[in-house]
Amino acid sequence: MVKVTLKDGIYWVGVVDWNLRDFHDYVTRRGSSYNAYLIQDEKTALVDTVKAAFCNELVNHVSELTSFEKIDYVIVNHVEMDHSSSLPIIAKLAKNAKIYATARGKEELIKHYGKEFERIEPVKSGDKISLGKKTLTFLEAPMLHWPDSMFTYVIEDKVLMPNDAFGQHLASSGRFDDEVDPEILMEEAITYYSNILTPFAPLIVKKIQEVVAMNIPIEMIAPSHGIIWRKDPMKIVNAYMDWSTGKSVKNEVVIVFDTMWDSTNKMARAIGDGIASQGIEVKLFKLRATESADIVTEITNSKIVLVGSPTLNNGMFPPVSKFLTYITGLKPKSKQWGFFGSFGWGGGAVRSMIKIAKEAGFDVMEPTIELKWVPTEEELKKCFDYGVQIVQKLKT
Ligand code: FEO
Repeated sequence: MVKVTLKDGIYWVGVVDWNLRDFHDYVTRRGSSYNAYLIQDEKTALVDTVKAAFCNELVNHVSELTSFEKIDYVIVNHVEMDHSSSLPIIAKLAKNAKIYATARGKEELIKHYGKEFERIEPVKSGDKISLGKKTLTFLEAPMLHWPDSMFTYVIEDKVLMPNDAFGQHLASSGRFDDEVDPEILMEEAITYYSNILTPFAPLIVKKIQEVVAMNIPIEMIAPSHGIIWRKDPMKIVNAYMDWSTGKSVKNEVVIVFDTMWDSTNKMARAIGDGIASQGIEVKLFKLRATESADIVTEITNSKIVLVGSPTLNNGMFPPVSKFLTYITGLKPKSKQWGFFGSFGWGGGAVRSMIKIAKEAGFDVMEPTIELKWVPTEEELKKCFDYGVQIVQKLKT
């Protein structure tokens, strides 16, 4: 492997997963990477491991820099298996190493990999480990992305290793932000944020504020997925603040729908025309034609989301039901939600969608619009007018 140096004595030893296309149902069309870092000083530390299928590659990368017997510390920033499932093998190879994780991390590692991990030493925010000239310190970051998560910071080099936070599912031969297309990088960063971290937006804001208050200089952010931010690390921090606080939300409308015999599609298009007639940007996504991960990403920066479904067996059309399960779990903030649909017999889809949205605490707009069988020209005009009416909500 070509040696990838972050700073003198700090090396990337991770792996690139070019073929990853699914990360717990989030379609990752550009693959990903599992980043691990080796820090060499008088003592040597390995920060994180990789997905078990790639363990051999990690072992080779580390072995090019040191022998496993010389590793003094293994730091587990996060237990999710994309980062820890090589740990049982690495712990055997690095037989002289102490292993550190948060107290929750220790609990989870024992449950994942067995009692051997009772030897883990728990660390908490502010604890320090000296490697010689370099010092590691830790910052607990629960729910970014699991209860066990923590950040590792190399004090003297000003390098933050925040594991999942600030990552992207992006496989690339370049390892740094100045080595990849900046537009693709930010596109994958917001997709990753939208599909993984949206539910934790308030915690992200708090954590960033906490780091700012600590006044620690950050010259590099080295996450556990995708590229390392060295050219402009604050770019991703500021983007996270904007996405998490809703500052990036624009006066845009997203229409998400599916259709059986084209009636809901006709409604969606007429509503979209009404919105566009007022000079407002609107984007339409048919669920079975678009990946949910991409729709969720569009929703992050949109103010209004309209969801349309035909009625099937007195309820929602299944693709819509699946989407609502996903989006109500992610709970994006600062949105208004509207619902529409078509039916043949007694209806039910709109009622079901509203029930789920209200139970999730979504801000549901009234009135809704629901039409029987195939919409007439007159009814499509009503849909158009509904779109015009929706635009007024953007002004309130
Ligand atoms: Fe990349 Fe929460 O794992």
